[in-house]
Amino acid sequence: MFKRVIEFEGPVLGVVINGRECSVPASFTAAAAMLASEDGATRETPISGAPRAPYCMMGVCFECLLEIDGVPNQQGCLVPVAAGMRINRQRGARTV
Ligand code: FES
Repeated sequence: MFKRVIEFEGPVLGVVINGRECSVPASFTAAAAMLASEDGATRETPISGAPRAPYCMMGVCFECLLEIDGVPNQQGCLVPVAAGMRINRQRGARTV
């Protein structure tokens, strides 16, 4: 879906995105890592299950909710990647 227009230089980290090991630039956020992999979707709507993707990338829209290291409802655009981080698409309604 998305295609990189520049190649990143510098350190990379190993993360697991939806169960698949990936290398991403250390400067990425979890949401950026999702956009760079697979179809870019970070969550699914609770009603229809339609895929949603990050929009604002600055903590305003909440379209980037992810499950990160087993913790749901994380704003992926505000979470820097870390080595070994497990990032999963958030599915269904959030829990309260
Ligand atoms: S992309 Fe909008 S809050 Fe994260």
